[in-house]
Amino acid sequence: MPVTQTPAVMIDQDELKARITALAHEIRQDLPSGQVHLVCVLKGAFMFLGDLIREMDGHVSIDFMACSSYGSGTSSSGEVRLSKDLDSRIEGRDVIIVEDIVDTGLTLHYLQEILQARGPRSVRTACLLSKPSRRKIDVKVDYIGFTIEDKFVVGYGLDYDEQYRNLPYIGILE
Ligand code: IMP
Ligand code: MG
Repeated sequence: MPVTQTPAVMIDQDELKARITALAHEIRQDLPSGQVHLVCVLKGAFMFLGDLIREMDGHVSIDFMACSSYGSGTSSSGEVRLSKDLDSRIEGRDVIIVEDIVDTGLTLHYLQEILQARGPRSVRTACLLSKPSRRKIDVKVDYIGFTIEDKFVVGYGLDYDEQYRNLPYIGILE
């Protein structure tokens, strides 16, 4: 599908960098010693993870998981399914779920439940973006990059039908 529209800038590269640096420092302050295990939720969070780990000191390990909530386009059905599991065990580890955006909260709720059940020492969540007005379930998000209004956003890893992930900023499709 050729996409010609250029999304308008909502959050530019400098704002992203400054906020992500602050989040990385906040995470390290909360977990000052030892290994932090970052679990990146594919695909949308890959750029956020890449920039976040570059700003974190000390011992950091990463793993990836993916889930799909049936449906494409700008709305999801709310039914979440794991499509790629972690490679390694998280028992006894300090885990941070790294997610692109929390919208209804259903995806994050599902991920938090399955990871918590595996006996980590702690599970925290870092989301680059949050749309609180869309929440269907109350999920705890420990670190939020930006709280945004109910607009469909793309870029910096986030897609619309697999397009726009390469944009270096967060844009709005109008
Ligand atoms: P939730 O389960 O409704 O919270 O949806 C979370 C997932 O929906 C995110 O991980 C994104 O993949 C996707 N999503 C929600 N809002 C947007 C958006 O504005 N742009 C791109 N993807 C979105
Ligand atoms: Mg996602």
